[in-house]
Amino acid sequence: MNECPYPPSPKVIKAVSNEIQNANRYPDPEMEEELKRKIANYVDVSVENIVVSNGSDNLIYMLMDVFIDKDDVVLILRPSFEVYRVVVTKNGGVVKPLRLKEPHFAIKLNELMEAAKGTKMLVIINPNNPTGNLLLTKEEAEELVANYEGIVVVDEAYYEFCGITLSDMVKKYPNIVILRTFSKAFALAGLRIGYAIAHRDMIKLLKKVREPFPLSRLSIVAAVAALNDLDYVRRVVSLIKSERDRLYAELESMEGIRPYPSMTNFILFKSPVADLATRLAERKIYIRDFSAAIGKYYYRVSIGKPEENDLFLKNLREVVKP
Ligand SMILES: Cc1ncc(COP(=O)(O)O)c(C=O)c1O
Repeated sequence: MNECPYPPSPKVIKAVSNEIQNANRYPDPEMEEELKRKIANYVDVSVENIVVSNGSDNLIYMLMDVFIDKDDVVLILRPSFEVYRVVVTKNGGVVKPLRLKEPHFAIKLNELMEAAKGTKMLVIINPNNPTGNLLLTKEEAEELVANYEGIVVVDEAYYEFCGITLSDMVKKYPNIVILRTFSKAFALAGLRIGYAIAHRDMIKLLKKVREPFPLSRLSIVAAVAALNDLDYVRRVVSLIKSERDRLYAELESMEGIRPYPSMTNFILFKSPVADLATRLAERKIYIRDFSAAIGKYYYRVSIGKPEENDLFLKNLREVVKP
């Protein structure tokens, strides 16, 4: 699930261990304010441009609760992160899918703008999950957001691995919402922390549908401690990126396997073999099968520690051996 293979920083573990003794108390509003200040500083926006919640999954629910009612149309690229489709449908909205195609799963800006006409919302995962590529450059995003009347949601869950963000656009445009998470580069998937970056008016709307205490005291102190130890995050990201490049090269050298370039912490690859995920799972190696969403036979593997990647490669070689 594209988690971080490394544990959180020792400073995070210490902060959470210390905080557990205060678990009889609700989170103090000042704790959340401190977290928002740290995030705002990290992103380089104002505190009014940030709302936090328990995972970006939850922010997706909040966004759809604010904007999507019966028959509202949302443009979602396919393949992409499934939660968007599920939540739009739950609210009675209609998903308009736009297929990302081979050879690179890229999208042309004019095609995107044409498909977006008349829709209420447009969702872009940038870089995209599960294909791993960047879908919009900054220049393209400017043109899109400036000319689109609906809401543009840009999911930057993998930002730390690619270093490209549209966050400064929230200062200029009220109709862009950027989602980020502590579940990937920050190694905190189990504590459920995400945030949205948007214009202050948009943040006010999102806050209206938010539950009172979406983050636990432990989650808040963990996120603050993680932001206080960005060196750790940078080291982890750098290890994962170098392993990603090694894994890509290894996969590329294997007969019949075609990996796709990735700006994230996972790699999509095509294989001539069906049921690869099941066959690897029998060997206790878990990858995700995307054959139903993309075609025969596509799989996504998360980048692990070097020894985990070696084990994956060894078993993959054995399973695909003619
Ligand atoms: C594109 C994308 N958005 C959101 C999420 C969910 O993040 P969170 O753990 O913050 O709910 C994921 C997790 O895989 C993801 O890939």
